[in-house]
Amino acid sequence: MCAKASKIRVVKGMVDIMPETAKLWHEVEATAERIFGTYGYGEIRTPIVERLELFRRGVGENTSVVQKEMYSFVDQGDESLALRPEGTASVVRAHIDTGAYVSNPVARYYYSGPMFRRERPQKGRQRQFYQIGCELLGVDNPVADAEVIAMVTHFFEEVGVSGLTTEINSIGCSGCRPDFNAALIDHLNSCKSELCDDCLKRLDKNPMRILDCKYESCRKAVESAPSFPDYWCEECSDHFTKLCEALDLMEIKYTKNHKIVRGLDYYNRTAFEITTQNLGAQNAVAAGGRYDGLVKELGGPDIPGIGFALGVERLILLLQASGREGKSDDVIFFAAIGENARNAVLPIIQALRKDGIRVEWDYAAKSLKAQMRRADKLGAGSVVIVGDDEISKGMAVVRNMRSKEQSEVKLRDLPMHFV
Ligand code: HAM
Repeated sequence: MCAKASKIRVVKGMVDIMPETAKLWHEVEATAERIFGTYGYGEIRTPIVERLELFRRGVGENTSVVQKEMYSFVDQGDESLALRPEGTASVVRAHIDTGAYVSNPVARYYYSGPMFRRERPQKGRQRQFYQIGCELLGVDNPVADAEVIAMVTHFFEEVGVSGLTTEINSIGCSGCRPDFNAALIDHLNSCKSELCDDCLKRLDKNPMRILDCKYESCRKAVESAPSFPDYWCEECSDHFTKLCEALDLMEIKYTKNHKIVRGLDYYNRTAFEITTQNLGAQNAVAAGGRYDGLVKELGGPDIPGIGFALGVERLILLLQASGREGKSDDVIFFAAIGENARNAVLPIIQALRKDGIRVEWDYAAKSLKAQMRRADKLGAGSVVIVGDDEISKGMAVVRNMRSKEQSEVKLRDLPMHFV
């Protein structure tokens, strides 16, 4: 006797999206395409695998994402590659690589797809997760920052999520941030004993990240830390003021939070997060900001950029918590009893499907009772019953499953009956 084969389980932190849930995903994706389209964004699809170097240089060598969370490997041709942990670096690479920046000095891209980070899985945090994001390249005007924030707010309204908070900050530029960082390091050195182990490591390489550490003692330590606005240069200050003015003009609600910093190194000036109270620790549903040096850093021209990405799983969790399910298509169930009936309905089923109607039926031609149970389970709106009797009369019984009314319809009229 053969031993039973062992089950192969899904990889930790990765999740199967089954058809019932996929419907809601499609609605989210269709809304994104529609809303972002009205702001002029076109879809870009970049490869999931990129050169490791792209994220080292783009996202930053000292970020947790690159240091601890990347799925990287050397392929058979000795190339160091990585599964993308985010989309911005890939979009910028494609903009440079394809030469699109020459014909489109201002480009608007949106994308949707899986990203990979080997983080500790928990509710709303996976190792393979999906992002929908937008990148606007070639505009440094703060009104563009406001428009991106307005667009993501518009998207969340349209998709039907409420109770979100938008927090904005400016983390300065390469001109003014070194002074801020020096003052921050001074402050943090004075309260080193309160910092967690991770923050102690960040102190030299990435002190700004300590500002958004979730540990209580680190939060206390940064309460009296230097604040970004006191260190902004005139341009950064002006940029932030104009961003707020544009948001006010568009009546977008936001809060200024000068502790917001981002986990990826490419940001300058505007940084923002959109959060919810309803997801526990993983409360950021979307986040983004400006990255004016990234295109140049990746070997392209010196053009600015701004964008955001939203976590699709987190959004779906919020929608499901509010009772939303994906809309299901209307189903017509064919209950054919016996071989003659099966042969008679087969071309009719084919004709209905060609008309775009969802039809389900039972190949095994079980009893009528079993087939009605199946129709019920599928939530069929109508059941078409065909047995030998009906075949001899050239008719079918059509049962409306909601009103429970039954009527007789000629077999040859069935396609017209449902269209
Ligand atoms: P991020 O903050 O790393 O930014 O990710 C954006 C969003 O992706 C988060 O707010 C969260 O909703 C979702 N997310 C991140 N990691 C996970 C995870 N492990 N599991 C589930 N969801 C997750 C970026 O990735 C930037 N590329 C955003 C951007 C675009 N900035 C400018 N342009």
